[in-house]
Parts: sequence; C-alpha cells; structure tokens
Amino acid sequence: MGQKTHLALLFIALLATIAVAAEDSSSSSSSEESKETRAIRQLLSFTMEHISRITEYIAAEGKNIFEKVVQELSPLKEGNEELRIKLLNFTEFIEDAGKLKPRKEGQPFQLESLMLSATFSEIMDAYNTTDTAVKPTIETALIWATITKNGLDALENGVETRFADYLSEFDKKFKEFDSSLTPTERQEYGKIFVWYNSVKNASTIDDKLNKFVDYLNQKF
Ligand SMILES: *[C@@H]1O[C@H](CO)[C@@H](O)[C@H](O)[C@H]1NC(C)=O
Ligand SMILES: *[C@@H]1O[C@H](CO)[C@@H](O)[C@H](O)[C@H]1NC(C)=O
Ligand SMILES: *[C@@H]1O[C@H](CO)[C@@H](O)[C@H](O)[C@H]1NC(C)=O
Repeated sequence: MGQKTHLALLFIALLATIAVAAEDSSSSSSSEESKETRAIRQLLSFTMEHISRITEYIAAEGKNIFEKVVQELSPLKEGNEELRIKLLNFTEFIEDAGKLKPRKEGQPFQLESLMLSATFSEIMDAYNTTDTAVKPTIETALIWATITKNGLDALENGVETRFADYLSEFDKKFKEFDSSLTPTERQEYGKIFVWYNSVKNASTIDDKLNKFVDYLNQKF
C-alpha cells in the first residue's frame, strides 16, 4: 500500500473514531438520524476494524521478515558502513513492532500499527529494486533479495486475502442496508450507490481505499 493510501487510512481512522464517539453520545437522538448516516457510521467502524487487523498483520509479519534480514545480513556489516546504516531501518522497525500492544477491547484503531504499516511501505519503496531505472547498490540488491526470499510473497498474499474477506463482508453489509431502504430512500441516497460501485469497480487495494475516501470526503 502506497503513501497516499496510508493517508487515506488515517482519514478513515479519524472519521471512524469520530463516528463511534458520536454514536456513544447520541443514542437518544438516533431515531432522527437518517438511515444513510447510520449506515455510513456502521460501515466506517466495520472498515476500521478490518484495516486495524490488516495493519497489525503487516506489523507482525513485517517484523518476522525483517528479523531474518537482520539475522542473515548482520555478519556482513563489519567494514561495510552502507550495509550497517541500511540495516538500522530494519532494526528500528523490529524494535517499534516489538513494542506494539494488542488493541484494547472496543478500541477502533491504534496509531502505532498504522504508522508501522506506513513505514513498512516506505522501506519497500526504498529497497524494491524491481524495475528501478537506476542500478541499485550491491547492499540494496542484497537486502531486497533477502526480503523477498524470506516471505514477502506470503505477506502480500496475506494482505490480499484479508482485504478480500473484508470486501465480501462489506458487500453483505451494504446489501443489508440496501434492502432496508424504501424506493424513495434509495433514490434520495443515490450517491451512496455510485460510491459503492466505484469502490467495487476499483481494481487494486489502493484504488479501492482511495475511492472509499473520496465519498467520505464529500460527506464530511
Ligand atoms: C532509513 O534510514 C535512513 C538513515 O537513518 C533514514 O534517513 C531513512 O529515512 C530510513 N528510511 C526508511 C524508509 O525508514
Ligand atoms: C516492487 O516494485 C514492483 C515494480 O514497481 C511492484 O510491482 C511491486 O509491487 C513492488 N513490491 C512491493 C512489495 O512493494
Ligand atoms: C461499475 O461497474 C458496473 C458494472 O460493471 C457499472 O454498472 C457501474 O456503472 C460502474 N460504476 C462506476 C462508478 O464506475
């Protein structure tokens, strides 16, 4: 997931936090709330729960991969200043990921796991030598080879699977919302269907999350 996507996640996290807080304080007036507002609130907190699980997964699996990188390459860092400095990116991540505590019951998200997931992407961007125009240094190439052979594919598949599970549940929840509407309401809330379709039609995780945020951006 790219940097823009991580900003999108942060935005969803903020909105979800606000939505959940509003829900807690306004249970008495909830009958006045439109079905659309209620549905958005529920979709937001449900989405946040899944995003949190995904970022926690990236933090934990990223830590495992990076530990192997440090373990395998540390013996080579004596007398190689570039490698020594580059490995600090990995030890720092491992240290931060090691401090991650489980979320408390009902806590929608944790900034730390979101940040770790963003850092993971930055590290991927910095060391990914696939298709780079400039020839990578030996150290960068070595690090990338070590990352890829230690489970990067599995991590990516794990993220895809979790995201696909989320989308299919999102679909179910949206259909429940749809079937709760009267024809008039369905027309009135036309925009939410355009949004739903644009999220559905987007082909990558990044596209989907950015489309998800587009609508919320207009709403709030
Ligand atoms: C890697 O470490 C260098 C030097 O400490 C730092 O400037 C850079 O921002 C780090 N990169 C990432 C992606 O963490
Ligand atoms: C590495 O770069 C390639 C080419 O740009 C890209 O397709 C791939 O998704 C990147 N991998 C990761 C883990 O970022
Ligand atoms: C998404 O795709 C469906 C079917 O392929 C189409 O009917 C719909 O107009 C598309 N929506 C958007 C927002 O592109």
